[in-house]
Amino acid sequence: MDFLQIKGGKKLSGTVEIDGAKNAALPLIASTILSKNRLTISNLPQVSDVRTMVKLLENLGAKTSIDEIKKSATIDTSTIDHTIAQYEIVRVMRASILVLGPLLARFGYCEVSLPGGCAIGQRPIDLHLKALEQMGADIEIKQGYVVAKAEGGLKGTTISFDKITVTGSENIIMAAALAHGTTRILNCAKEPEVVQLCEVLRDGGVKIEGIGTYEVTIEGTGGKTLDMKDFAVIPDRIEAGTYLCAGAITNSEITLKNVNPTHLESMLLKLKEMGFSYDESEESVTIKPASKVEAVKITTTEYPGFPTDMQAQFMALTLVADGVSTIEEKLFENRFMHVSELSRMGANISLNSYTATVEGNAELCGADVMATDLRASSALVIAALVAKDITNVHRIYHLDRGYVKLEEKLQKLGADIKRLSE
Ligand code: UD1
Repeated sequence: MDFLQIKGGKKLSGTVEIDGAKNAALPLIASTILSKNRLTISNLPQVSDVRTMVKLLENLGAKTSIDEIKKSATIDTSTIDHTIAQYEIVRVMRASILVLGPLLARFGYCEVSLPGGCAIGQRPIDLHLKALEQMGADIEIKQGYVVAKAEGGLKGTTISFDKITVTGSENIIMAAALAHGTTRILNCAKEPEVVQLCEVLRDGGVKIEGIGTYEVTIEGTGGKTLDMKDFAVIPDRIEAGTYLCAGAITNSEITLKNVNPTHLESMLLKLKEMGFSYDESEESVTIKPASKVEAVKITTTEYPGFPTDMQAQFMALTLVADGVSTIEEKLFENRFMHVSELSRMGANISLNSYTATVEGNAELCGADVMATDLRASSALVIAALVAKDITNVHRIYHLDRGYVKLEEKLQKLGADIKRLSE
């Protein structure tokens, strides 16, 4: 198994290219089920979650090919010959549940393995299932599979989500695209990834109103597949935020290219509160050093608020702040597993249910640490960039799920980091 070895203390400089957004790519790949066109998706991040989603479609009978160099994939779902998403694939990636809505909408029957447990919390899919039932689906859980039927197709209705759910909203938007009649989704997620899904479906002929708001209205095609067009995935705001933290913790000036600064606003404002400055243009951001790093209060919430997917990386950053920071995690009940690993590096963090209190001015020291989930892993790498001596980050298959060539990009910025095998 691979691990990352990092020797802390290097300043960073230069430019890093941000890849396409994993969390936009996954629903977009699933959405190709709604069309029989052969589609090419570009700016596709070459990470293992994306490969898993493409493999899932291939397993259903779709014809797929990935071009790692061009960062693209071509998918033809006209050849899908069965609608059973098997446990062997679904178990490695929770987002596989995103095929449920489009498969049911197009074929009227599907079986999708339940995704099972997850390190950062319970992550149920009850809201996805309830909404599909409200659209007329008959749903049963049998032997670990969601068995869904909608003979004659799904029917548009008004759905009000009890909680804002990103993949739940995406599943229902895709289901509604081929439903009979109009679906209104209240309390819909408005993350940039949800917005892009809506835009791609709209370009494929679906009438959608309220894109980017909490109330989205979709006029279904009544079972007719879409005339979808090729598209490019939006930049990854979480990958970008992670490099902003790498620049900030090392108090360096670095430039991020291929970003959408609007999507980074909550993070940039938090960095400003901490004393960093930045320049932005249409597609790039440059972070600049702070004369003093201030402690902050962070609360994770839905977009456009501060993202839960950046909580761990900012926690690493608050370790070098001057004073005590507090970080409140509002979305997932168990998303503090990086705390014990950061403590192994000398961090002083106390936990009280959903709130972490982080002592700044930490004297971080290299250690052997273990990645526990995707974003927690990148927080360990960020802390290691300023730790004394050597840090070995193990179990980096978590990192490979969502970051494209993290060590190569950091090396290019001047970090002392290498990938080794155990
Ligand atoms: C997505 C992102 C993930 C991000 C999260 C929150 C993808 C592939 N993943 O995950 O990176 O951290 O949004 O921004 O895009 N909930 C329920 N019942 C449901 C669904 C969700 O109770 O049926 C709860 C969850 O437990 C959680 C909250 O709703 O407390 C938000 O979760 P949700 O937005 O659904 O997260 P994901 O879509 O799984």
